[in-house]
Amino acid sequence: MTQDDLKKMAAEAALDYIESGTVIGIGTGSTANHFIDALAGIKHRIDGTVASSDASAERLAGHGIPVLDLNSVNEISLYVDGADESTRHLHLIKGGGGALTREKIVAANSRRFVCIADDSKLVDVLGAFPLPIEVIPMARSYVARELVKHGGRPVYRDGFVTDNGNVILDVHDLQIMDPVKMEEELNNITGVVTVGIFAKRPADVLVLGSKNGVQILT
Ligand code: A5P
Repeated sequence: MTQDDLKKMAAEAALDYIESGTVIGIGTGSTANHFIDALAGIKHRIDGTVASSDASAERLAGHGIPVLDLNSVNEISLYVDGADESTRHLHLIKGGGGALTREKIVAANSRRFVCIADDSKLVDVLGAFPLPIEVIPMARSYVARELVKHGGRPVYRDGFVTDNGNVILDVHDLQIMDPVKMEEELNNITGVVTVGIFAKRPADVLVLGSKNGVQILT
């Protein structure tokens, strides 16, 4: 089985968490894409979706699944998205695809967050995956210097612009022992829009695709 098969397995298992007649939040990335494709088969059961990126919105629309503006939605019952890393406490690193800000907004608005991933994403300590941080373009050098003071090695994601018109710094060499504290500290650097640690609002359920089948962590 390939890693992509395991992502698909997790994505399809997440359909079980859908409550009929509600709005579903949709993440971004290859695992979220599998979820979108699976959702197409039961689209008549939901009221619509809120997308965390232009790319996901396009894919949803391609399947004829309604995409709503978050400001016109009262409640999102469920958010389904992938991750770059997850601990057993369901603290995540996200943003490998650069959609972290809208992902965090949709997650914050959702009653339940189901994270879907292949089992290679499960780690003991966050940080081997370089931490994505979305930054206002004019603050890039300043934020990079501040990140060095926090023990990180920021690398500018050259040529990449987020859906919000900002840039991404990928921070290497961090060992994130206290994700909630680190999320707060880094988010407080002036010029940072969003840090890719999802710990203040972690996932509620982690659905992992593995060679032995689907594993659920709560
Ligand atoms: C997108 O910005 C990310 O947060 C993704 O959720 C993350 O990179 C996982 O991507 P894959 O599902 O493609 O592994």
